[in-house]
Formats: sequence, structure tokens, C-alpha cells
Amino acid sequence: MQINPIGIIHSPHKTKDECPIQPVYSAGAGGRVEVFEEFAAGLKDIETFSHIYLLYLFDRAGKIELVRLTFLDDKPHGIYASRHPCRPNGIGMSIVRLLRREVNVLLVDGIDVLDGTPLLDIKPYIPRFDHIDSASNGWVAEKQWRPKPGGRE
Ligand SMILES: C[S@@+](CC[C@H](N)C(=O)[O-])C[C@H]1O[C@@H](n2cnc3c(N)ncnc32)[C@H](O)[C@@H]1O
Repeated sequence: MQINPIGIIHSPHKTKDECPIQPVYSAGAGGRVEVFEEFAAGLKDIETFSHIYLLYLFDRAGKIELVRLTFLDDKPHGIYASRHPCRPNGIGMSIVRLLRREVNVLLVDGIDVLDGTPLLDIKPYIPRFDHIDSASNGWVAEKQWRPKPGGRE
């Protein structure tokens, strides 16, 4: 199996320490999603959506541990019960606000991705399909945002 990037995500976040842990904590952080020319035709009509999913490769992730400490808790959780970047098949997923399109570049807000991250795919966020009123927050429900502790990656 081979997956090739379709573009590059440009963001203001140069280091993991200053990078927000989710788009919801990243309002005001603008990013530029550059889609390579050969895929740009696929962006037709994307500007009809206010939010998009970015799927990308965690290309600077650290050691993979299947059960580990995460950003929001002092107790370990399974990697598939978390959004931690250090995972087998390190695929990241962020829902960001689409501000506008400039040909093959999407200007977005709420980016929680390091500058230069390889972009794998883009999909529209469609509330009719994706919003689930009855969804639970799992173990995250009781956890409050806190500054990133050291040594978590
Ligand atoms: C907790 S992950 C969540 C990412 C995404 N919203 C998700 O749920 O898949 C966000 C963190 O991943 C790390 N990160 C972002 N881009 C990365 C990259 N290209 N390689 C490795 N780690 C990255 C940063 O430390 C950032 O704070």
C-alpha cells in the first residue's frame, strides 16, 4: 500500500510545545493548506462548505506506545481511545474553518498542525452526515484543557 501526499499544510506552529492540541483550542491560528496543482481540480465547490476535515501524516511523531499518557489526563489510555499523534499509521484529523480558497490554496482557521505537515486528504464537514447529538465524550468528558506537560510525546 502506498499513499502519497496531495499537498502541504503551512501553519504558524513550528514546535510541538507551542502547537495546540485540537482546533477547538486554536481559534485565531490561521493556516494555509496548499494542494498540489495536479489535485487542485478536486477542490471544485469546496468553498460551499464552512468547515473541512484535514487528514494528514504526523511526520514528526515520537515513539509509538499502544497504551500511554495523553495530553488531557494523568492516567494512561489506549491509543485508539485517544487522539495522540504517536500511533501506528500516524494519521491526524482536524476539522478547521474554511475562510476562503485561492486557486489551489485553502486559507483556514483553527489549525493544530505543525508547519510543513504532509496533507493526505480533504473532506467537507457536513453536519447532516457528521453531527451526532447523542455522542458521548468518553473519558475526556471530565477533563479540562491544561497547558501541555513535558514528556508526553
Ligand atoms: C493531539 S494531536 C490532535 C491532532 C488532530 N486534531 C487529531 O485529533 O488527530 C495534536 C498535536 O499533534 C502534534 N502534531 C501536530 N502536527 C504534527 C506532525 N506533523 N507530526 C507530529 N506531531 C504533530 C502537536 O503536538 C499537536 O499539539
